[in-house]
Amino acid sequence: MNILDIITKKKDKGTLTREELEFAFMGYLENKIPNYQISALLMAIVLNGMDMSETLDLTDIFIKSGEQYELSKKMPNVVDKHSTGGVGDSTTFVIGPMCACLGLHMAKMSGRGLGYTGGTIDKIESIPGFNVNPDKEKFIKQVEELGFALSAQNNDLTPLDKVIYALRDVTGTTESIPLIASSIMSKKIALGADNILIDVKYGSGALMKTRESAKELSRFLTTIGEAYHRNVKTIISPMSTPLSYAIGNALEVAEAINVLHGKECPLYHSCVDIVATLYSMAKGVSIEEAKKEAKKVIITGDALKKFYEFVKAQGGRLGELSISENVIKVRAQKTGRIDTIDALGAAKLAAKLGASRVTLEDKIDYGVGIMLSVTEGDTVNKGDLLMNLYVKDYNEQFKESDFDFIKIVDL
Ligand code: URA
Repeated sequence: MNILDIITKKKDKGTLTREELEFAFMGYLENKIPNYQISALLMAIVLNGMDMSETLDLTDIFIKSGEQYELSKKMPNVVDKHSTGGVGDSTTFVIGPMCACLGLHMAKMSGRGLGYTGGTIDKIESIPGFNVNPDKEKFIKQVEELGFALSAQNNDLTPLDKVIYALRDVTGTTESIPLIASSIMSKKIALGADNILIDVKYGSGALMKTRESAKELSRFLTTIGEAYHRNVKTIISPMSTPLSYAIGNALEVAEAINVLHGKECPLYHSCVDIVATLYSMAKGVSIEEAKKEAKKVIITGDALKKFYEFVKAQGGRLGELSISENVIKVRAQKTGRIDTIDALGAAKLAAKLGASRVTLEDKIDYGVGIMLSVTEGDTVNKGDLLMNLYVKDYNEQFKESDFDFIKIVDL
């Protein structure tokens, strides 16, 4: 077999066989194929696509490139959730403990943020001492005993996805439905979750630009799930507004704790909906009943207690979570109604404050970020507080346009 023939076949819109996909992709993992050739193949796939059978083959190659934890064989009700991007998305810190209190098991592998997307691993690292690289035995034992554990992607599971994802990120080959679907699903299947909920985001700042492409990705994700006898549900939602009032690492952890205390903000409602869906998938109860159960673990304080146990189990010292004491208040320039709060604009301002990184080498400032005081639909008077900015120091220079992601329209 010859890599040039494989690249040419895809360039000419051909359908690749499993053997050809394995030769090219495993060849890259084993350093037999150079990155410029696999990059050329990835670009041909982005431009000419892959059909469902090629996508299923590639997913299987990803899965078999590493270990399979087979968690569902070790414990009951293994659930997982995934979101393809969001601003102010700290749902994992609320959902994991809630699921654990309901007798579900969640083993979460998460990523770091790059550019404007926030990463769950960066957020939890704002808690000093938190270990995001537990070894396999400790990780599985914690899921079994506590019900929830969190880890950064390691080299055991789907190592092929790890190297291909990193290459796609720097070669403009991220936006391909078959490549995204096989990347996401291979990790879930290798972990061994049997009930999987995926929130497919669409919109200007998301991987999927249109609702139609989000629906197509959803079809690929569910078909792969069915092939492995997994129960997969997808939600298709616009990525237009931040998921939470907090945008920034330590701020988002603190906001997740507020939700676990019962703060009924938009983040609370998203988390209750996600947990209820997972509980209803795993236990076969109605969504109404599942919602009641989900809310109960917050009201009783059990989910909050579980969160503390989870942080302690992974070495985190929550008492040392630090948010900047330098606060700038941003106020409404006019009276009116909050029409939109644009997620991408909010993420850009948080990035300017130092909350995210532009290159993988950049250092994140965990204590900075934005705390919104308003939500879409609120009415405000001129001079009312729109947001608090937690800044490193007061030397930061701002322009009017930094704040125009909040659109106020006349009443
Ligand atoms: N998330 C993943 O894990 N993989 C992709 O390709 C895109 C989003």
